[in-house]
Amino acid sequence: MTLSPPTWSPSSWRGYPARHQADWPDEDAAEAARLRLRALPPLVFAGEARQLQSALAEVATGRAFLLQAGDCAESFHDFSAITIREKLKIMLQMSAVMIYGSTTPVVKVGRIAGQFAKARTSPTETVDGTELPSFRGHMVHDDVPTAEGRTPDPARMIQAYHQAAATLNLLRAFTKGGFADLNRVHMWNQEFVASSPQGRRYERIAADIERALRFMAAIGIDLADLQALHQVDVWTSHEGLLLDYEEGLTRRDSTTGDWYDCSAHMLWIGERTRQLDGAHLEFFSGVRNPIGCKLGPAASADEVVELAERLNPGREPGRLTLISRMGADRVREVLPPLLRAVREAEQPVVWACDPMHANVFRTESGIKTRRFEVIMDEIEGFFSACREEGVWPGGVHLEFTGDAVTECLGGSDTVLEEALSTNYMSLCDPRLNARQSLDLAFHVAELMRGAWPEMGGQSPGEM
Ligand code: PEP
Ligand code: CO
Repeated sequence: MTLSPPTWSPSSWRGYPARHQADWPDEDAAEAARLRLRALPPLVFAGEARQLQSALAEVATGRAFLLQAGDCAESFHDFSAITIREKLKIMLQMSAVMIYGSTTPVVKVGRIAGQFAKARTSPTETVDGTELPSFRGHMVHDDVPTAEGRTPDPARMIQAYHQAAATLNLLRAFTKGGFADLNRVHMWNQEFVASSPQGRRYERIAADIERALRFMAAIGIDLADLQALHQVDVWTSHEGLLLDYEEGLTRRDSTTGDWYDCSAHMLWIGERTRQLDGAHLEFFSGVRNPIGCKLGPAASADEVVELAERLNPGREPGRLTLISRMGADRVREVLPPLLRAVREAEQPVVWACDPMHANVFRTESGIKTRRFEVIMDEIEGFFSACREEGVWPGGVHLEFTGDAVTECLGGSDTVLEEALSTNYMSLCDPRLNARQSLDLAFHVAELMRGAWPEMGGQSPGEM
């Protein structure tokens, strides 16, 4: 069955208003880049996108949890095996904590291998007294604050493709080639994390997991044969913002005839581009990948139901993930009516919480930051809104890095305001560092444990 409406094609979005696109100064160069993208091999396969949809369907029915996390904006400059490995380590560590703490499977999706384009609230920013175009991601231009650096260059889409390909290649090697083997659970605890209280707490869990593995071996289970112990799935995702890039990587699946955006397993539509009559809705309604959509505090129940209808007319579990980013002070009030409306529309969506994007502020010295405690507060508000409406709190969507950055305030070992500039590396929004991420995972595991008993000890999927 093809989902794509009869008028849909990979380029039909061009007939609709498209916000936050790059203004390529040279149309011939832009056309050359689009043609090149169309000729390049796909980064992911349709069958993989379908496997992710099945995994997300488990989340939609309350039998699994989604951990979607990575950079706000990936960088062309900070690109190495070490950066990728450190991000993967913290992801594996967080998921071990969540699985162990809640005995619920965790679906792991990176904001990685394609997260190179940014929608910005303001088209310009002032750096040292000079007004410049705002930074829109390395797929569009450079971050250096000069007029030349900020000039869009379509050849960057090809560079983004190659960096995504190399990143994905390494991720596949790490996750299938032994690095993610559960027998290495201790090795994911990097030095910077191990010396913290949450790192020591992690060590205790890792020791328990090792004991459980030794127990299984002792009663005669052949661990060498159990693939689940030795390999994991880490899927890729990014905001499907720059439609020239997404269209260029869209392919028809030879086995089903359906269209897939082969730039990533999952794509999401951002808060600034989710207009019902806009180009992004048009484009993503026609590709069969699992799709996410951010929802800010201004989203109305009718709008969200309509959006779900457009993106998931077949009501397939796992096709649509709604990512709430309401702000810690609003989530308890604005989310419940949306949860209710979507439930009443019988849409089997995944509900995830992005506790990052509505909790940003600037310090007096002008540094963009977020507070760990406020991030946790939004997650708690999300869990309680879900509990109130009998909906499974399906996941979290985070911005983190495996490095010891000082970008978000607070956490167990308290990053203070004075320390923010010590190691502030983000190209765009402030990210949780590895300790803060692990800290958050322990909190979320506790909330997950509480989510089921409150619902009568059953997941919605079992009710
Ligand atoms: C993002 O995820 O980096 C982002 C910009 O989010 P939002 O669209 O929710 O503002
Ligand atoms: Co961001």
